[in-house]
Amino acid sequence: MPDTAVPTVSLLDSLRAVVGDRGLLTDATDTAPYTQDWRRLYKGSTQAVVRPGSTAELAEVVRLCAASGTPVVPQGGNTSMVGGAVPAEDGTEIIISTARLNRIRDMDPADMTLTVEAGVTLKAAQTAAADAGCLLPLSISSEGSAQIGGVLAVNAGGNNTVRYGNARDMVLGLEVVLPDGTVWNGLRRLRKDNTGYCLRQLFVGAEGTLGIITAAVLKLVPQPKEIAVALCAVDGPEAALTLFTRFQAHDAASISAFELMSGLGMSFVLKHIPGAVLPLAEPAPFYVLVELATPRPQAGLRDMLEQVLEQALEDGIVLDAAIAESDAQRAAIWKLREEHSEAQKREGASVKNDVSVPVSKVPAFIREATAACEALMPGVRMVPFGHMGDGNIHFNLEQPVAAEAAWFLAQDHAIMDAVNAVVRKFDGSFSAEHGIGKLKPYMMPDWRGGAELALMQRIKAAIDPVGIMNPGKVLP
Ligand code: MLT
Ligand code: ZN
Repeated sequence: MPDTAVPTVSLLDSLRAVVGDRGLLTDATDTAPYTQDWRRLYKGSTQAVVRPGSTAELAEVVRLCAASGTPVVPQGGNTSMVGGAVPAEDGTEIIISTARLNRIRDMDPADMTLTVEAGVTLKAAQTAAADAGCLLPLSISSEGSAQIGGVLAVNAGGNNTVRYGNARDMVLGLEVVLPDGTVWNGLRRLRKDNTGYCLRQLFVGAEGTLGIITAAVLKLVPQPKEIAVALCAVDGPEAALTLFTRFQAHDAASISAFELMSGLGMSFVLKHIPGAVLPLAEPAPFYVLVELATPRPQAGLRDMLEQVLEQALEDGIVLDAAIAESDAQRAAIWKLREEHSEAQKREGASVKNDVSVPVSKVPAFIREATAACEALMPGVRMVPFGHMGDGNIHFNLEQPVAAEAAWFLAQDHAIMDAVNAVVRKFDGSFSAEHGIGKLKPYMMPDWRGGAELALMQRIKAAIDPVGIMNPGKVLP
């Protein structure tokens, strides 16, 4: 950790000289939104938010901060689930926002690559790809605000991992500002480039602790020609798993999302989200959203979906199902899934456990983790949901109805430890797609200790010897 002090007036003047008045926020009212995460778990403090308008400006900002030993916190859309973009409370850290690096630099349909700057939102990147007849196959609930730089820095996963992998699987090249202000231009768009250490993958998932991603070359896939979506009622995660294996047996390559939701989670969405409607005759204990997609023309996906669901209904695996018959119906079904986090926030305080286990273990994990949490805190409301097709369950807990939110949140370590004990039993991970941020560094020695953590610490020390990049995140 650097020996830090509150940034001096002369540093702020030098930063202003680089980014101009509109690129530097120092007024507390202007900086306030940048100092807190959207979940309101963490509130930090800062003397300044710097908003560079180019990679060169950002590099000079980092160089000035490094020269004065001032730590920096990179921030994109500030949608982290683990406080990854919140500064420390003591006001010593400067926030560097990537929001003004928002240019689409190149779209190449022949190479099927999209080159974008860090501040482009995921949604805008998806649109740029779609306009050129391609698909950027990364989809997360916060895609309207989340920016590419942050999405890559945390190696986001999301809804389509079952088919296309995580953010790191879509990166061909990166441009990164290193902790001393050097710009590494690795914006190559090669499918084969077998030339030593794969540096770009070091920065993906490092959560801004090794450098600041300023641009990326993303790998695209063909746009689907047919998409079929259904919402299915099931009586539990076991039935959901059986349904998943049936789709796999039928046409595994067409599954583009397979999401699980609980009855309680769905009831929060129906209660808190305007316009949310359940397209089924009655509520169920659990739901599955299945999406099939193919770039092949006339593949008959809708018929295939109906056929698998009819058989599953006959066999009692599915209780009821609604197949989307239009783009609007498809969006309405997806909305029920994507608003889960927002609905939980409106319902009260929640503790999130973004964990993964092998797909085949999801039902047993949910059963045992539910029992562990109910034993720990009677009255707690379990809201497991998420990306069942890749084994990533958001094993979220909502505060007991009569409890104080602050009291409940103060139990977060006890709750996470209880859930993680079950995750460990099934050889899972304590962070599947949200990363480590400020919330989980304390878990690292227990889960990644020994050679693995020591290696991470040596990489950090080699690339950021002064320790100015996003201190207090990822590593304990
Ligand atoms: C989602 O998939 O909607 C988010 O990653 C989940 C969360 O709120 O834990
Ligand atoms: Zn998720």
